[in-house]
Amino acid sequence: MANAKRTAGSPKNGPAVKRTRREDREWSPFQASKFSQRVCNPIRSIVDTIKRPEKTTKEMIPLSLGDPTVFGNFPPSDVLVQTIVANVNSGKCNGYAHSAGTPAARAAIAARYTSKESPLTPADIVIASGCSGALDLAINGLLNPGQNLLVPQPGFSLYQTLAEAHGMSVRHYRLLPEHSWQADLKDMESLIDDDTGAILVNNPSNPCGSVFALDHLKAISALAARHRLPIIADEIYGNMSFDGHSFHSLGTVSLEAPVLVCGGLAKEFLVPGWRVGWVCVHDRNGLFEDVRKGLFRLSQMILGANSLVQSVIPTLLSPNEGSKEQRSLRLFQKKTMTQLQSNAMFTVQELQDVEGLRVVRPQGAMYVMVGIEVDVFEGFDNDMSFCQQLLEEESVFVLPGKCFGAPNFFRIVFTAPREKLALAYARIKGFCERRRK
Ligand SMILES: Cc1ncc(COP(=O)(O)O)c(C=O)c1O
Repeated sequence: MANAKRTAGSPKNGPAVKRTRREDREWSPFQASKFSQRVCNPIRSIVDTIKRPEKTTKEMIPLSLGDPTVFGNFPPSDVLVQTIVANVNSGKCNGYAHSAGTPAARAAIAARYTSKESPLTPADIVIASGCSGALDLAINGLLNPGQNLLVPQPGFSLYQTLAEAHGMSVRHYRLLPEHSWQADLKDMESLIDDDTGAILVNNPSNPCGSVFALDHLKAISALAARHRLPIIADEIYGNMSFDGHSFHSLGTVSLEAPVLVCGGLAKEFLVPGWRVGWVCVHDRNGLFEDVRKGLFRLSQMILGANSLVQSVIPTLLSPNEGSKEQRSLRLFQKKTMTQLQSNAMFTVQELQDVEGLRVVRPQGAMYVMVGIEVDVFEGFDNDMSFCQQLLEEESVFVLPGKCFGAPNFFRIVFTAPREKLALAYARIKGFCERRRK
């Protein structure tokens, strides 16, 4: 009887519609699921509209990808390479790990990021597949469909992709180029309503290359606390700040509002393809007890991150005090940051006097945003056409600000070797000169 009801296939109270049995049906193309249809990374659709030049004699210089391994001039540390080779050879890192990460890796992450203000234990750490996986956990662990997430503009588009796929929405708060890309707190506050689930803060910033000062972070955390909101802090570029711009983690700054700090190995250790990241739960007064449990449950959905890569985390994040690994890692970090800072300063020096461009001086990470005064030029009227024509005429690929919600800016990734940067900047200067009114 129950079966007969089901096979009738008729709308409730409507006439019975006879359906063919599955066995009698023809194959027909399957539809992608509704969930997959909601997944959209705006960067992809923008970048796909940019046409690559078909015939060009000029060598292509891509300054578009936030991947420091592209040119081979930012190698990973010897300690990292030797440790992973030894761990492969040990044959002990081939099995499944706990879905939230191996105990040793979680202990090392907790040891590295714990502080007097915000003590962490391994129970506060959930390891994920890259910082992207960590952000996915954080957003889904905190928000419900129908809620909104405050995100920076300009900002990394993945936040929107993740939120919208799960039926949440994003509201963009402005970052102010004239104030070194600090957040417009009035704007941020005006966006908050009863359905706001969290404030997402990305510091140091992709695409801006900015590093928030301590006072500014305090102001953001006070704002969050006033509205009883938690913070999701994307700190994948944590510790990658230049001289005079100290990095402070919101995990230690925000003393009232609880924070989920997302981080990972990708950028600091120059291995974005290794895909290991983490969430650190900085609870305040037990406010996140249930959220912590939720994050652990979510980690079971894909049974955790790569166990081999997790095996290097103890050596990388908490090497023995005074060990040769510790010394070597310090040298590696110093060398990487010196090289990045020097490339950043070179970029400013080369482009700051170009009439019609406005370089916002970077303070960390590996990016700089350059404003385009479109009225000064002819032949293009926005960042998309600027980048398209620069690519066609000069084979220099930079991403239009539209990818990050920043019209009339473009983003440069300054990790290329110095001679390639010099060539790219000479071509940008030549292009601007030719196009100036
Ligand atoms: C701001 C920001 N957050 C997160 C990520 C993702 O990091 P991962 O490669 O570890 O997933 C990136 C990568 O470029 C990023 O720029």
